[in-house]
Amino acid sequence: MLLPMIQCPEHNNAIDNGMGRKRGQFRATVLANTNICREHFLLKLRVPDFPASEPGQFVQVLCPPLDGSAEKPAGESESQYHEVVWELGTLPPQLHDPDFLGSEPYLRRPFSIAGRRDDPANTCSDIDLIYRVIGKATGRMATLAMGDSISILGPLGNAFPMPKAMRSALLAGGGVGIPPMIYLAEKFQRAGIRAIAFIGAQKADLIPLHITGAVGTQPTSNVREFAAFNTQTVVATDDGSLGNKGFVTQSLERFCETSPDAGAVVFCCGPTPMMRATALVAAKLKLPCYASLEQPMACGMGTCQSCVIKYRPDGVEDWVYKLTCKDGPVFNTTDIMW
Ligand SMILES: Cc1cc2nc3c(=O)[nH]c(=O)nc-3n(C[C@H](O)[C@H](O)[C@H](O)COP(=O)(O)OP(=O)(O)OC[C@H]3O[C@@H](n4cnc5c(N)ncnc54)[C@H](O)[C@@H]3O)c2cc1C
Ligand code: FES
Repeated sequence: MLLPMIQCPEHNNAIDNGMGRKRGQFRATVLANTNICREHFLLKLRVPDFPASEPGQFVQVLCPPLDGSAEKPAGESESQYHEVVWELGTLPPQLHDPDFLGSEPYLRRPFSIAGRRDDPANTCSDIDLIYRVIGKATGRMATLAMGDSISILGPLGNAFPMPKAMRSALLAGGGVGIPPMIYLAEKFQRAGIRAIAFIGAQKADLIPLHITGAVGTQPTSNVREFAAFNTQTVVATDDGSLGNKGFVTQSLERFCETSPDAGAVVFCCGPTPMMRATALVAAKLKLPCYASLEQPMACGMGTCQSCVIKYRPDGVEDWVYKLTCKDGPVFNTTDIMW
């Protein structure tokens, strides 16, 4: 199977995504790409005419080639393609199979929008992405420098809802699921809704946030990114190297038991086991819960069917497949067949 060529026009006009939201392909200029903790970078991009976006939405980043010519999208040279052999009766190549992907980060990679600032005067938007270096594409992203130019597609997917009856918001972010929670905290601040963030990582040096003072069992304003939006934060690490020892879900549950609020709504993003655990905690506490799934994706636009999940709304007998990129990434956790 030969992989097809990517066509990459400089800039498409934004088009409607069929759900009343605009999306498009944009060339973004790197404003900064800063190492914020072990393996994590904050990438600030300036994008012209970027359509309106909401927390929960994401962008698909086409990562630069190794030779440093960031203007040329990855995968444009014929010599990078090779045949992938798939014997009948064996499993097909999987999305992240090195043979299938070849030597280049050919496919775009999805990243949640972590923050956004608009300059209405010159129609430019500054978009923040926070990413962890785990493989080929994120490794290349770590080499981006100020002034480099990359191609992004977005904003994609749906967004976190704002339930009418919500009195307060509990934001649970684990690892690379922390970034969309920052953008969400900003939205709740604007809406005048009290939010508390629960942030978890394996170790202290894997928290991609600025800690400005002590963090303990009680919510504090000592996490700069959330404090900027008037959101207090509880920090947990698996090994106890910062904040509460244990999983972020344990901190969330403990807090809800000591400070119950029947009008609270839980929002979460992180690794699947963490979101599944958050959904269980919310169900136990009888709180609504929404999760932004981080299913591996290829197209990000509902075409390739690589991001399916099993979906069964409460009270419905039969399940159906849903596409994380198009129907999600945000779902009511009671509708997901974990
Ligand atoms: C909607 C969405 C939003 C995301 N937002 C962020 C974000 O804000 N910050 C961030 O750092 N990451 C985010 N991710 C994950 C990010 O897309 C992957 O880390 C990235 O694609 C890895 O690319 P790579 O080429 O560096 O790694 P690869 O070389 O493709 O993979 C390296 C290893 O990581 C595994 N892997 C890759 N992607 C995933 C995944 N999604 N889930 C579990 N394992 C995976 C692979 O199986 C492989 O073992 C998001 C994913 C989705 C779907
Ligand atoms: S990533 Fe292609 S359909 Fe979802």
